Amino acid sequence: MAVAVDRQSPQNEDLRTLGLSGHVGFDSLPDQLVNKSTSQGFCFNILCVGETGIGKSTLMDTIFNTKFESDPASHNEPGVKLKARSYELQESNVRLKLTIVDTVGFGDQINKDDSYKPIVEYIDAQFEAYLQEELKIRRSLYNYHDTRVHACLYFIAPTGHSLKSLDLVTMKKLDSKVNIIPIIAKADTIAKNELHKFKSKIMSELISNGVQIYQFPTDEETVAEINATMSVHLPFAVVGSTEEVKIGNKMAKARQYPWGVVQVENETHCDFVKLREMLIRVNMEDLREQTHTRHYELYRRCKLEEMGFKDTDPDSKPFSLQETYEAKRNEFLGELQRKEEEMRQMFVMRVKEKEAELKEAEKDLHEKFDHLKRTHQEEKKKLEDKKKEIEDEVNSFQKKKAATQLLQSQAQQAGSQQAKKDKDKKKAFPFLIHSKRWRSMFTL
Ligand code: GTP
Ligand code: MG
Repeated sequence: MAVAVDRQSPQNEDLRTLGLSGHVGFDSLPDQLVNKSTSQGFCFNILCVGETGIGKSTLMDTIFNTKFESDPASHNEPGVKLKARSYELQESNVRLKLTIVDTVGFGDQINKDDSYKPIVEYIDAQFEAYLQEELKIRRSLYNYHDTRVHACLYFIAPTGHSLKSLDLVTMKKLDSKVNIIPIIAKADTIAKNELHKFKSKIMSELISNGVQIYQFPTDEETVAEINATMSVHLPFAVVGSTEEVKIGNKMAKARQYPWGVVQVENETHCDFVKLREMLIRVNMEDLREQTHTRHYELYRRCKLEEMGFKDTDPDSKPFSLQETYEAKRNEFLGELQRKEEEMRQMFVMRVKEKEAELKEAEKDLHEKFDHLKRTHQEEKKKLEDKKKEIEDEVNSFQKKKAATQLLQSQAQQAGSQQAKKDKDKKKAFPFLIHSKRWRSMFTL
């Protein structure tokens, strides 16, 4: 019976209990919730991490009893990629929006150091998208298509030995971000006695390496027993097949071999049914809840802290969002001012440097100019001296020339007087001119 507490009662007095008269009606709450969730539908997102060809698509087809589109991946991918596909499934009146994310090219590269990164990035990107929606002023989480990964099926190769270092590294990187359910793929390839040892080896390796896998919840009565029993069988050794084989007078999903038939849904053959029960029937809601309350919460907290938001101030007093915002804003403005001042100082320094450089260049130019001026003057002086020398030479030459001309004219004059004398002589002694002897005397 519901009990109401009168909050007006003094503290030390006996609490007055009031019986509710008639039917209150909140026992219909679960029905309301069921109706609301049914009409709205559910989102469930599974991430399949495993090497190429390990049986991821076959297992998904087998679990959901349908044929999802999937093309086999090549072994030549340069890196790991994630491919997400969403489907709307309906069973009676319940709608399920299922997203299956596949790792393409996982384990195919020679250097596998970074193989986990695209998976981590994908998971974070879905958390980020949800956080962005949450931070919006007008958020619509009610009809938001939640793509956060609720379960990660980690496909372990059926080697019978131990986990590969790639498996350990990847699972360790993912365990704080997603609910990991380890499964041994293609379990029909391991002998029964080896399988038991292989399972315990895997579990002890996971524990010794501190890998946190998803723990089936045992706090709720209705599922505590089944979850506790199922935990013992981890990692589930599964076989996938969509092929139907006639067993007795019934058709059953199985893999047929020359020596016999492996029935997928036969619990003595493999753990497929256990996985399906745990994943879809018993723990789907818990997986969704864990994703939101544990993994997303952790991402959100780290992200908000990274952005500078805190719940308490340095004295551990609670901080309101407004205060945090104001503190962050002031911090930002202070930083901006500091940066501005720094830039101003740098600018002044650069201007000073440039000024000094220019002054230095100006000084150099002045020196060059003075040097040029000096050489020019020296050259000019040299040329003037040369000019004077040449002028002196020209003058003396002119003088010599005039003297020579004078001498020449005197000589000409003397020559013409002599000729006149000769002419006169010729006139006086014409016979002498013709005589050979006299002529030679004159020319001498
Ligand atoms: P990719 O998407 O290409 O990476 O491959 P996958 O991991 O989706 O594997 P897929 O389901 O395509 O199966 C690859 C091959 O393994 C197919 O020939 C399947 O028939 C076979 N196979 C799938 N499940 C099992 C199984 O449980 N046991 C055995 N023996 N073979 C299986
Ligand atoms: Mg596939």
